[in-house]
Amino acid sequence: MTVHIGAKPGDIAETVLLPGDPYRAKWAAETFLENAVCVNEVRGMLGFTGTWKGNRVTIHGSGMGMPSLSIYANELIKDYDAKTLIRIGSCGGMQDDVKVRDVILAMTASSLSTPSSGIFKEFNFAPCADFGLLQAAHNAAKGKSATTHVGGIYSSDVFYDERPDLNEQMVRHGILGVEMEAAELYNLASRYGRRALAVLTVSDHLKTGEALPSDQRERSFGDMVEIALEAAFA
Ligand code: ADE
Repeated sequence: MTVHIGAKPGDIAETVLLPGDPYRAKWAAETFLENAVCVNEVRGMLGFTGTWKGNRVTIHGSGMGMPSLSIYANELIKDYDAKTLIRIGSCGGMQDDVKVRDVILAMTASSLSTPSSGIFKEFNFAPCADFGLLQAAHNAAKGKSATTHVGGIYSSDVFYDERPDLNEQMVRHGILGVEMEAAELYNLASRYGRRALAVLTVSDHLKTGEALPSDQRERSFGDMVEIALEAAFA
């Protein structure tokens, strides 16, 4: 047990999928895993371990935002020795050719700050995905109905952003979408020598204002979970 995870040693698999929402962790475990058992419910942050095609997988909520993800990713890495961590979550689309329901594989994650900013100070570290995972996810995405984009994303500290000027610069520099967790996941994976990737479904669009209705979310999110699982065990 750790401060935030009640799982016993050995309850957590080497491969961990990290949705922000604990109920999405429950849905993904019930939908894609066999023999899934709940291994954590401390503070309602649900985690499940089961198998996918014979491979052991944990699907654990990360919460929203980098401070929350940092707590779970630190404990999963340092106390449970998670080796492959894949964020599965939603993001806001930022480019015209990125549509709601599309999938983004986050090659890099830019940010204004992360929980690691205190270490890096004036150094602009460039958090990036594990290339092997990224390549495997790209291959897996070819068999899915969702259109998939590969490129840079922006990990924001705020959902209700008061900086439209910054978003304009992001768009101008080709950033595909905005979410709130990947940059710190990539920082931690680099620091501890683990593999990380963020596979994101576009749930809303900053330019058009379009948003995915809740009743249509599951099918789009299903492609994302399958891409993450296929990439983890490629
Ligand atoms: N996650 C999903 N949509 C988002 C948005 N528009 N901004 C930040 N995080 C998001």
